[in-house]
Amino acid sequence: MKGFFLCFLLQVFFSSADTLPGQQRHEKPGIAVADTSLGILILVNKEHKLPPGYRPYDLVPLEERYNRGIMNLLRREAAAAFALMCRKAEEDSIFLWNISAFRSDTVQRQLYENAVERNGVHRAERFSSRPGHSEHQTGLTADINSTHSSFSRTPQAAWLRQHAHLFGFIERYPRHKEDITGYGHEPWHFRYVGVEAAITIYTNKLTLEEYHGTIQETTRSPAR
Ligand code: DAL
Ligand code: ZN
Repeated sequence: MKGFFLCFLLQVFFSSADTLPGQQRHEKPGIAVADTSLGILILVNKEHKLPPGYRPYDLVPLEERYNRGIMNLLRREAAAAFALMCRKAEEDSIFLWNISAFRSDTVQRQLYENAVERNGVHRAERFSSRPGHSEHQTGLTADINSTHSSFSRTPQAAWLRQHAHLFGFIERYPRHKEDITGYGHEPWHFRYVGVEAAITIYTNKLTLEEYHGTIQETTRSPAR
């Protein structure tokens, strides 16, 4: 009996050591596995979690000229689009660079835990994703130039707002869409979805969540 009790205690200790503080207590029900078969259109958010240890197979380093971050990897197609966007911006005397692109779930866990420690869970959840829930883990996202809120008032941010979609990137967490995305405004966080989807999203002022909703609606509608 004593042995059984010891085993039980050890199990509780080790399973909670492998868990975020409060993760089990706060994890919302109804979290789905993100559909990786969607490729560059993958939806990762608070309700859609990547499989543990997910890492895209085609990560490549960003051109040094357009990188100032240790986390400098993007998926091949997104990296090429990022370089093209930075080159075109330069022609308008706008200088863009990555500060954080691909992040593993281990790195994200560290960032999230630090954010929670400094800000408390409630505030942290507005700007930091739990591991497995960050778009950075898709290799399709880059934080550009600065993660300070004042970035939104810079010419670089204005240029990105006007042009990023032409290169396949969307401002993923727009102002006034927190109720849909689950995150506050992040004028630096750009997500690659490809040019076609980016233009639709930009033109119709959608979030990626709304875009996916629209696709599902269209698929559900009976053929005419
Ligand atoms: N800052 C975004 C929400 C992230 O942590 O992935
Ligand atoms: Zn980001």
